[in-house]
Amino acid sequence: GIPKFVKIVEVGPRDGLQNEKNIVPTSIKVELIRRLVSSGLPVVEATSFVSPKWVPQLADATDVMKAVCDLENARLPVLTPNIKGFEAAVAAGAKEIAVFASASECFSKSNINCSIEESLVRYHAVCHAAKELSVPIRGYVSCVVGCPVEGAIPPSKVAYVAKELYRMGCFEISLGDTIGVGTPGTVVAMLEAVMAVVPAEKLAVHFHDTYGQSLPNILVSLQMGISTVDSSVAGLGGCPYAKGASGNVATEDVVYMLNGLGVKTNVDLPKLMSAGDFISEHLGRQSGSKTAVALSRV
Ligand code: HMG
Ligand code: MG
Repeated sequence: GIPKFVKIVEVGPRDGLQNEKNIVPTSIKVELIRRLVSSGLPVVEATSFVSPKWVPQLADATDVMKAVCDLENARLPVLTPNIKGFEAAVAAGAKEIAVFASASECFSKSNINCSIEESLVRYHAVCHAAKELSVPIRGYVSCVVGCPVEGAIPPSKVAYVAKELYRMGCFEISLGDTIGVGTPGTVVAMLEAVMAVVPAEKLAVHFHDTYGQSLPNILVSLQMGISTVDSSVAGLGGCPYAKGASGNVATEDVVYMLNGLGVKTNVDLPKLMSAGDFISEHLGRQSGSKTAVALSRV
């Protein structure tokens, strides 16, 4: 059976806004995070402490974090690619971090400018520093099904990287279909390989909706015992280093499906939709959530 409660990890303020052509003002980011937290989401990924030359969209990470770090009722993790980012995150008030590796050698190089092995060494150092401060660490694996350059990625490669992140102390491993090419056919095989080395309760799934496969992929993941799902309000998102990748699955659509399945999330859909309206109005475009568009017409 599927889990009775699903923890939704909202990644819109990070995965969504890192990919916007026009840089979103800090005050808008802060208001978006506040609204997302007040909708009942238990985890809202707030920003990334990465190089501003690589991701200028999130160059205001310190200001964003300082403005939201005292918000209650939600955890507010941030991405940290190295010790420099970790130290800046902690100084700004971050209480939880995430490191991000890849199952694709090419994507590792284009996203974080190093090989997979080099990234694991780097993340070992970050995990060591985080443990000293009792800061929980999430681990991402990108390109778990396919890579824009290498094509299909073998499930064994994903399992290897996931296991390494788990062994170094990540409390949860999020499996990212960065370019959204997975179908239930490829996702099930990938999850079987990963679940042989990391327990299902320590895994999360992170789907981008490029081919419209996110909801079926989430459903099969739930059926396999996964109970943590990443998504992005209004379907914001993409990755600046993954050409052609579209937004994450929309949080509103995930909540609508889970409500229909009788699975609890603690998220108030109307409040979530108002957060989605807020950011969509700011960006000047229609929401990427079919649920939000449909419910705003009735
Ligand atoms: P590099 O150029 O190899 O780094 O980049 P470096 O150590 O040689 O340093 C170069 C410059 O960057 C130096 O500054 C450093 O100080 C600075 P300079 O001396 O030239 O003035 N620097 C930093 N500045 C601020 N914060 C830092 C930092 N580190 C170095 N933390 C690096 C390597 C990893 C830094 C770079 O490639 C980078 O920042 N990459 C981040 C890319 C990124 O954020 N991608 C999107 C997130 S991943 C994703 O979206 C996928 C996911 O959603 C899951 C999925 O969908 O599958 C998670
Ligand atoms: Mg992503």
